[in-house]
Amino acid sequence: MQDILIDTTDSVTTITINRVEKKNSFTSAMYAACADALEQAKTDAAVRVVVIQGHVSVFSAGNDIGDFLGNPPRNTEAPVFRFLRALASFPKPLIAAVCGPAVGIGTTLLFHCDLVYAGDNAAFSMPFVNLGVCPEAGSSLLVPQMMGYHRAAEALLLGEPFMAEAALEVGLVNRIVPPTEANGLAQAQACKLAAKPLSSLLETKRFMKQGQMAQVLARIEEESVSFGRMLGEPASREAFTAFMEKRKPDFSNV
Ligand code: COA
Repeated sequence: MQDILIDTTDSVTTITINRVEKKNSFTSAMYAACADALEQAKTDAAVRVVVIQGHVSVFSAGNDIGDFLGNPPRNTEAPVFRFLRALASFPKPLIAAVCGPAVGIGTTLLFHCDLVYAGDNAAFSMPFVNLGVCPEAGSSLLVPQMMGYHRAAEALLLGEPFMAEAALEVGLVNRIVPPTEANGLAQAQACKLAAKPLSSLLETKRFMKQGQMAQVLARIEEESVSFGRMLGEPASREAFTAFMEKRKPDFSNV
């Protein structure tokens, strides 16, 4: 799978989204590869930390829109939802390095990472409403919690993008660096974590997450049912067809 590269070196598994010609948008096969990598990293005693990174120019344009039209996730066992569950319940430290656009799941996956480092070109957006669908990845719960309700409403109802500085201010990213340094910083932090006692890392993350884990997983499930249904409805059909035809969507009838 060339679109997702998996490398494990010195106890760190790095997942690189590598489909730059399509702005690192995710196909079902890519979600499956990521889910497999996380499931493997979870049980492999040789892996202590996972890093998710993209390209210096783009983290991810979200779900592949052609794939949404031709191969929509039909139920909660679809690869995208398997990936989200693996991500939300991943017990070891997860680090993301984000440069350029991070659209849809490119942003929502970050809410499940422990540390996020951003290039100063990072642009985050969750345009689910503009696409005729609803939030996923538990973002309807996690975004208002982290950003406050009104900023969350701008991000989720209006679908307005926000830049690295705003993401730093609300606590979605830990640090902003020049884009060429983001992946390196994530790796350096991963090496620091990998040198620490794994049992302490696991226990600490478990305690930090445990209050909300069940609620987050339940929300991912609920959102995925609505999301799957909405993918078959006229609003999303219009939004996706408009994207493929490189025109503005017309929502006047939906
Ligand atoms: N699905 C499928 N193809 C996508 C894509 C996506 N989500 N995002 C970009 N691409 C493709 C474009 O169709 C284009 O393909 P082409 O060269 O065959 O025409 C190529 O990637 C380059 O995209 P382009 O839009 O020209 O790049 P850009 O630098 O001008 O803009 C983005 C980058 C990410 C801002 C823009 O591509 C975008 O908004 N993408 C859609 C994001 C989206 O709505 N995702 C769904 C979230 S649920």
